[in-house]
Amino acid sequence: MPMKTKTVFVCQECGTNSVRWVGKCPNCESWNSFVEEQSAAHPETQKLRLQMAALSVSPVLLKDVDTRQERRFLTGMSEFDRVMGGGVVPGSVTLIGGDPGIGKSTIVIQSGYGLARQGLKVLYVSGEESVAQAKLRADRVAKDFGGADLFVVNAIDVQEIVDHVHTLKPQVVVIDSIQVVHLAELSSSPGSVAQVRESAAVFTQLAKAKGIALFLVGHVTKEGMLAGPRVLEHMVDTVLYFEGERYSSYRVLRTNKNRFGSTNEIGVFEMTAAGLQEVPNPSEIFLSERPRDSSGSVVVPVLEGTRPFLVEIQGLVSRSAFGMVRQKAQGFDSNRLALLVAVLEKRLGLNLGDKDIFLNVVGGVKVMDPAADLAVILAVASALLDKPVAHDLAVLGEVGLSAEVRSVSQIEVRVNEAQKLGFTRCIMPKNNLKGKADHQPKGIKLIPVTNVREALDKM
Ligand code: TYD
Ligand code: MG
Repeated sequence: MPMKTKTVFVCQECGTNSVRWVGKCPNCESWNSFVEEQSAAHPETQKLRLQMAALSVSPVLLKDVDTRQERRFLTGMSEFDRVMGGGVVPGSVTLIGGDPGIGKSTIVIQSGYGLARQGLKVLYVSGEESVAQAKLRADRVAKDFGGADLFVVNAIDVQEIVDHVHTLKPQVVVIDSIQVVHLAELSSSPGSVAQVRESAAVFTQLAKAKGIALFLVGHVTKEGMLAGPRVLEHMVDTVLYFEGERYSSYRVLRTNKNRFGSTNEIGVFEMTAAGLQEVPNPSEIFLSERPRDSSGSVVVPVLEGTRPFLVEIQGLVSRSAFGMVRQKAQGFDSNRLALLVAVLEKRLGLNLGDKDIFLNVVGGVKVMDPAADLAVILAVASALLDKPVAHDLAVLGEVGLSAEVRSVSQIEVRVNEAQKLGFTRCIMPKNNLKGKADHQPKGIKLIPVTNVREALDKM
């Protein structure tokens, strides 16, 4: 067949197309990210897509749509099901991204087993490992799933995988990973933006047409030619990212996008010798090694999605040695830290200008919740003044640029969590008490504050 190929340049970071090479991506602003690629409009790919399209259904009236079939499959791992928005939706496409080695293959195998245990037919397409290697991993995690079994195939050719799906007729398909599969008709190498995007498009259409729950595994890496799974984010229904520090055994699975549930939901797991174990009560773990009476340590009940948990925030302040001050944050946005430090300096007159400031969220979680602001401020202040924060005190509140303490969402849930873990006092925004001044929960004393100065006084 005569091939009509067109050259395009594609940003390896975000997938933006351009007819000429540009140094800086106009969309994601990364430098030198454009590489030349053959245009996606390839006849064979188009043919495959048309085949897929032929499988799809014709228009119906909304009132005739039967929503009863929109039931969800449960994996039985409640941390995973919650992150998925309450189970896996048939016909949905989920992207699971994360650094290599973080546990993506492990989580998809485990959820595959969970779904197989419900009687679903699950096909695991292992592109990176041989079937024997996949079995070795599966054996480590299988014993929790009472004899359930998966179908596994080692394949990287998209057409071949589609054929397997047609013959086996599975209800759940896992592609591990999307960066190693390729469409033979495209000349670019596996992992390039064109390959990743076109292969994912084929699988997505297949999933939609056949009502298959599809999982795509993708590596996030800046090096090499692997296309970041970010190009896929628009195409899929749900995006989950696996987070965790390399040398910590805790892993957090976070929803970045979910057409079928709330975003920013998190699931907490621990990587053990027998796979990922759910951590139903992360507060206990994140606080388990908290030092007593050490300055710079503050506990905040954060909320990620619907889930409250307590994290310890640690601050460390030291005199800067080289005239150039450093501010480093782990598990917290460093721009936000800089802003909060500026509030401490300008509004409260604390002398931080010549100090190195380090902030750490214990346990490898990333805290995005603005309710942690006050805890960060108090951690830094406590470290600077070398005054420990009381062991039974939790701290809550968003901080504004005038050092005012602003109200936070879902105060009851947070306070309950703190109380459950043995905290007896909680510094919190005064505005959160509006209308319920006489309603003090039992067992925990609420200490309302309107600004950072008051919080420091009461700390
Ligand atoms: P893996 O799921 O292969 O990561 P990814 O697919 O994201 O690259 O798992 C990575 C690590 O987890 C690997 O170093 C081995 C470890 N691991 C365990 O500690 N216990 C287990 O039961 C399994 C299956 C893996
Ligand atoms: Mg893997």
